[in-house]
Formats: sequence, structure tokens, C-alpha cells
Amino acid sequence: MNQVEFGDFQTPSKLVNEVIELLSKKSFLPDVVIEPTCGLGNFIDGAYTKWSNTSQFIGFEINDEYYNTTTKRFSNYDNVEIKQQNFFTFDWNLYLKKFNDKKILIIGNPPWVNNSKIGMIGGENLPKKSNFQKLKGFEAKMGKANFDIAEWIIIELSEAMKTSPGILALLCKNSTARKVLTYFWEKNIPIGKSSLYQIDAKKDFNVSVDASLFIIEFTKENTKQASVFSSLSEDKKLLYKFGMYKDQLISNLDNYQEYSYLDGFSNYKWRSGIKHDASKVMELTIKDDKLINGFGDIVDIEDTYIYPLLKSSDIGNGRISPRKFVIITQKKVGEDTEIIKSTAPKTWQYLNKHILKLNGRKSSIYKNRPLFSIFGIGDYSFSKWKVGISALYKNIEFCMIPPYHEKSMMLDDTCYFISCHSKEEAEYWTTLLNSSEMKKFLNSILFIDSKRAITVDILKRIDMASLSRKFGSFEIANKYLTFAGEKSLGQATFVFEEGIKYK
Ligand SMILES: C[S@@+](CC[C@H](N)C(=O)[O-])C[C@H]1O[C@@H](n2cnc3c(N)ncnc32)[C@H](O)[C@@H]1O
Repeated sequence: MNQVEFGDFQTPSKLVNEVIELLSKKSFLPDVVIEPTCGLGNFIDGAYTKWSNTSQFIGFEINDEYYNTTTKRFSNYDNVEIKQQNFFTFDWNLYLKKFNDKKILIIGNPPWVNNSKIGMIGGENLPKKSNFQKLKGFEAKMGKANFDIAEWIIIELSEAMKTSPGILALLCKNSTARKVLTYFWEKNIPIGKSSLYQIDAKKDFNVSVDASLFIIEFTKENTKQASVFSSLSEDKKLLYKFGMYKDQLISNLDNYQEYSYLDGFSNYKWRSGIKHDASKVMELTIKDDKLINGFGDIVDIEDTYIYPLLKSSDIGNGRISPRKFVIITQKKVGEDTEIIKSTAPKTWQYLNKHILKLNGRKSSIYKNRPLFSIFGIGDYSFSKWKVGISALYKNIEFCMIPPYHEKSMMLDDTCYFISCHSKEEAEYWTTLLNSSEMKKFLNSILFIDSKRAITVDILKRIDMASLSRKFGSFEIANKYLTFAGEKSLGQATFVFEEGIKYK
């Protein structure tokens, strides 16, 4: 069986023991221990050692080899039963109901793989189509088509458990736990008390991802918050609590209380940078005074359409001298590009030389568009001064972006920015956005362990007017805020005055 498709990473006994130790500190003695994807059964073994006198142990596993080995492993144990079962074709609701009021502990480590990854390798280890239909589809159910199969598994189990006096304790990615909880919180379904105890996934599974032991203690309470602890060990610390506040998911509830005055409406429009999906053709470097493309060819074209480019790696590292240049074929989305033929014939010839590559760009956004189209382009791209941030880097650091040899610098589509009218304006906002107050506020609403922690949705919540009031410089800010929307196509220009709050 394919290790990736089945998320096959067996949990080391040392980690299993730490999990069992932590659970045994709770005043909860399980009557039944269930491991839904038990593999070689390390969790069953650990739980048996702790609770053998009182409990019944049931493990499920899809893989023939593991099922056989694990059945043999426990053949001499009392009360241990291993069943061969595909998680996705089993009615967990019905099964768990059979235990009536018995205290159930669901333990283990479900596969951490994503459904699109399974699709990419031609795998089938997913909820079955018929199941999808019965449940009106994952997309309909969850409002999205992309999910970790652990997310599906934990939601299924929690839905079946939510009325039992039980505990669920599963290892998973932090983002999975968050998505599971958000699913229940947003639907206002009470599931009880939740906590995450961080583990070192690099050490235990050789994967670089933030992961935890995710515990739900099922009660009728609807607390809508979860506590995150530093580790499983005795000396663990409470790091933060995340949860819902006024229908928004907040990553640090305590800090949020303190900095929520910065949560509002940014009348600057945050933009993402240029998207072209053809870096080998469109992006150029300079070597020995010559422009070189991604194929290593010398590119002899006019200067007209060439702009300096900053990438996420530049912005993320505070580097504002460009290492790359980009061909900007349009001034706004959808603009006719034929004009390049007369204004810059060598550029037109170069683009035509690579027409197959440019026409072959996969994304449907390029279909039925002018030749050599790009996206993320508008008047705002050409403002000489900008304040930008990388969406990919974990450090929250805003960068002031000046022009380069009189040309506006472009950012790539993994960066966000606002455009400014002057150096003073860009300087002013860079200082305020990098203030410790702003960083604490952003840290309280974003989840730094997400792939893209900084999003437009996060940035547009920054209340620039309140930020300037905090620093006693609203007079200056008001001057800038008045014209902030001006450069945005079709954007209204908002005037901020004392006392008005756009919440
Ligand atoms: C991350 S491993 C964990 C194994 C074991 N629980 C442990 O912690 O050592 C995930 C296990 O899930 C099993 N698995 C994957 N897909 C499954 C499915 N659809 N139904 C049941 N088990 C599955 C894999 O074979 C693998 O043994």
C-alpha cells in the first residue's frame, strides 16, 4: 500500500506513552478504547498497559499486512479486538451508539494526507462518492472541496461522539484541529472542551508541520474556545487560547481583547502583486550587463515594458534592491497588448518567440484574454511608493518599497501591498504598521502556522485610523487616508474624520 495515500506513519512508542500519561492525569477512566486507524497498534498497546483491568480495546485498520500483524500481536491479550475496516465505509454513528453510556476514549493518529494529494497520485483512500452524496458532498457540507482526510475523520468521529460521555485524543496537524473546531463552532454545535498539546512532528514523524495531540472532552458546553499547551510533558505551559469572538476566528483571545481597537476597516486597498505563471519567459536577471531569461538565453528587448521585481523572498528578508526584472505587458487587466508590436517591436518579437509557453499557461484565467496577459495589474501597480509584506514568510514585517531608477517596483503574487503617493506617506505607514501594537494585534488574529498566514482578509481588517490615533498622529494620517482609495480602480474614496469608525 502507498505510504503517502494512506498517511502511513506509525507513532513511536515513546510518544504514545507520553500521550497515555497525559490522558491518565484526567479524572477519566475509559470503559472502551477505540483506535479507528490503528496500524501496528502502538496506541492500543500503550492504553492496554495503563487501563487493562477496566477496559475493552478495539482497533480498526484497512491495511491487510498491518491487520494481520496487529491481530497476531494482540492474540494473547484479553479484551483486545482488531477489525479490518475502511474508515470511510463504516457507520460510526451507529457503531458508537451501541456503547450506550459507556465512557469511550477514541485515541490514535489518523492519516495526515490531503485529498488533493491523494487525487494527484491517483489514490482512492477518500470518503466514497456514494457517501459524499449521502452526506450531500464534502463541499456542500464543509463549504470547500479541499480537505485533509484527518479533518473528515475527526469530524465524523466527533459528530458520532458529541452526545457520549467520552474523550477524543488524536494526533493531527494544528490546522486540522482548528478546521474541525471551526466547523462545529460556526455551526453552533456544542462539542465541549478542547485543547491542543504541541508535539515535535519533525522529531517523531520527520515532517515539518505544526502538530499536536488534539483532545476533545465531549460535554454539552458550547465554549467555542480551545487552549494550546507547549508540550505533552509535566512542565507544559499554556501558550494561548484561540476561539470565536463575534463570529470571527481569533488566534489569541487574550491579546485580542487588548488590541481589538485595531480591528476595523482599512481604507487603503490591499493588493496582491503580479501574476503571470511564466517565470522563465517573463522574469529576467542581469548578468554582465545583459538580461537573461529563465532558459539562460540573452534577452535583447526595449526597456519600455521591463520593471524591477521584488519577490516574497526579498520582501520577507527586508531586501528592497531587485534581483529580478519582469515584463509588464499591460497597464490594467484585459488591456489589448497589440500596441507592443509598434511601441516595442523587439519585446513583441520576444513574446511571440515564447507564444506556445505563454498560451499554454494552465490557469483558466488566461483563456480568451489578449495575448501575453498578466494579472494583479492596475494603476495601483505603478505607484512609485508602496508598503508591502510577504504572505509566505512567518515574520510580520512591512517593507517600504521605493522606486528603482525612477521605475515603480513590482511585487510578485505572493506579496501584498498598499500604494502610496509619496515617500513620506510610505514611511509613515511602514513605521506604524511595524509597531509592536500592530504586530501583537496581527498575531492575535492570524494563525502563523498556516501556509499563508497573512491574507488580504487579515490585512483589510487593519484599522489605519485607529492605529494613527494610538500614535497621536491622526492629523497626518487623515491627509493620507482621505486619498487612499483614489488609486484603486472603481474604489470609493473614503474620508476619515475624528469620531467616524468604519467597523
Ligand atoms: C498515521 S498512521 C497511524 C497508525 C497508528 N494509529 C499509529 O499511531 O501508530 C495512519 C494509519 O491509518 C491507516 N489508514 C489509512 N487509511 C485508512 C482507512 N481508510 N481506514 C482505516 N485505516 C486507514 C494506515 O494504514 C495507517 O496505519
